[in-house]
Amino acid sequence: MLDAATMDEYIEPVKADLEEFDRRLTDYLRGDSPLISSIARHLLRTRGKRIRPAFMFLSSRAADSFTEHSVSASLAIELIHTATLLHDDVVDESDLRRGQETVNAQWTNLISVLMGDYIFAKAFRILVETSSIELMGAVSTATERVSVGELRQIEETGNYSLSEEEYLSIIADKTASLFTVSCEAGPILTQLGARERQRFATFGEKVGTAFQIADDLLDFVGDPEVTGKQPGNDVMTGKVTLPLIYSLKKVNKASRSEIMKYLKDDGHEASFEKVHDFVAENGGIDYAYKKADRLSNQGLAAISRVEDSVYYESLANLVDYATRRAS
Ligand code: IPE
Ligand code: IPE
Ligand code: MG
Ligand code: MG
Repeated sequence: MLDAATMDEYIEPVKADLEEFDRRLTDYLRGDSPLISSIARHLLRTRGKRIRPAFMFLSSRAADSFTEHSVSASLAIELIHTATLLHDDVVDESDLRRGQETVNAQWTNLISVLMGDYIFAKAFRILVETSSIELMGAVSTATERVSVGELRQIEETGNYSLSEEEYLSIIADKTASLFTVSCEAGPILTQLGARERQRFATFGEKVGTAFQIADDLLDFVGDPEVTGKQPGNDVMTGKVTLPLIYSLKKVNKASRSEIMKYLKDDGHEASFEKVHDFVAENGGIDYAYKKADRLSNQGLAAISRVEDSVYYESLANLVDYATRRAS
């Protein structure tokens, strides 16, 4: 598995862009009240991987579409991502994020939801700075898709007959959507043709889907010291993801009903271990990694027209990181 230092190496060509992004993020999150300020400080203490801005800057530069508005656009998207995490940790009842207590754990669910709303509002205000109605449209669509994906996921909680297609469509909405808009933002801002914009959108959509498959894998194989998240949280809260979908479909009825006992016994670590072993033994882990690889390759194929660009190599490396990362 690949670590954070490897990612830093891969994104070297847009290091300056990311530094500018970091500076502006810190400025933006200087709060409007003591409570907002203390939560903002908590959020800034451990910044995330910033993988969406990295994809955005590399894609924009590969498409020759980096503009004076690119950093604002990436800030808006990263803030939307942050807001969705504040809501998601309430929904998933998660206590740990980026190696520290979640806002819902340290404060309350109510505060986490309202802080999420505040950050959403800020994101849309920054977006206005880009003066691009098209980009506002694309970001709004992506944000709507995140909500649809999260709501559909709640509907499917505990549905152990969920199909691979349904799973893929949910994760495309809840996660790939923000990668899609990150990758097409450059072409949108410079008004490249619809075809070129679509190529980058397809790239983001495939890679974003692979990224979520990798996240779901980390729930099974991740080291909490490195992921900063509690492993087994998905299984124990009834979230049905690709490794499990594949393994459940593969086995006979008897093994299925045997493992169902543990799946229904959510909240117990010993049950998670059983489910983990079941999934590993039945090839669910390998299958999900292969699926993520296939999607990554399809994504890269969509933008093969820019493969001569120096930024393309970084993108190819970053795609590899997105599916093989340890955190
Ligand atoms: C976490 O996203 C939520 C998912 C869509 C899997 P990241 O893994 O990008 O989170 P941070 O920003 O790096 O913490
Ligand atoms: C991604 O789903 C969250 C959003 C798209 C908002 P997860 O629930 O898998 O993300 P983590 O594992 O909590 O980061
Ligand atoms: Mg979650
Ligand atoms: Mg997860």
